[in-house]
Amino acid sequence: MGFLHTVLPEYYNKETIFVETGTYLGGGIDYALNFPFKRIASCELLKNYYDLAKLKYNSVELYHSNSTDFLKDILPTIPKEDRIVFWLDAHYPGLYGDVKIEDIDTIFPLERELEIIYNHRKDCKDLILCDDLRIYIQANFQGGNIDTPIQKGTIFAFESFNQWLTTHNIITDIRDEGYLIFRPKND
Ligand SMILES: C[S@@+](CC[C@H](N)C(=O)[O-])C[C@H]1O[C@@H](n2cnc3c(N)ncnc32)[C@H](O)[C@@H]1O
Repeated sequence: MGFLHTVLPEYYNKETIFVETGTYLGGGIDYALNFPFKRIASCELLKNYYDLAKLKYNSVELYHSNSTDFLKDILPTIPKEDRIVFWLDAHYPGLYGDVKIEDIDTIFPLERELEIIYNHRKDCKDLILCDDLRIYIQANFQGGNIDTPIQKGTIFAFESFNQWLTTHNIITDIRDEGYLIFRPKND
């Protein structure tokens, strides 16, 4: 598990809205609350973590939802002129609770999340921070590699999302368990 505080200070620029997938115990929200975001929104698949967050945060928009439905709901409510920081950190629900989920897009939703973001936000200057890159590739990660990187590698980010390359630089960051970062160009 990575940390928002590793990457956000370095890449944060003019974003005014924070959107997180995977609330868990609220570590990302706690850190985001230090920044002048006008909206902070987060979703969590597992009800116990969602309930805990509801008790803890009044000013945060919380959704008990899988990350793809959440993004489809929330993105139409955000004007194109607003810049968003996405903290895409939802995966492996079975590690966090006693759930049996077989749908691969719920276990590893990143590719679908990026697709939805692209469809709603193309041409926007959003910053996209994806955690746990080591799920997808092997590299010299500070936190080491996992035995078998799963899925198709980050090829989907580079090939299926060619259009990102006109507006964003795609950066692989090897700190912690690795981050994949889409940073707006010309800022
Ligand atoms: C790494 S933790 C999130 C940590 C948190 N973002 C932070 O910065 O402290 C991942 C969380 O995502 C949740 N999760 C897993 N798959 C999900 C999905 N498809 N949709 C929404 N939440 C999911 C897990 O239950 C877990 O609470």
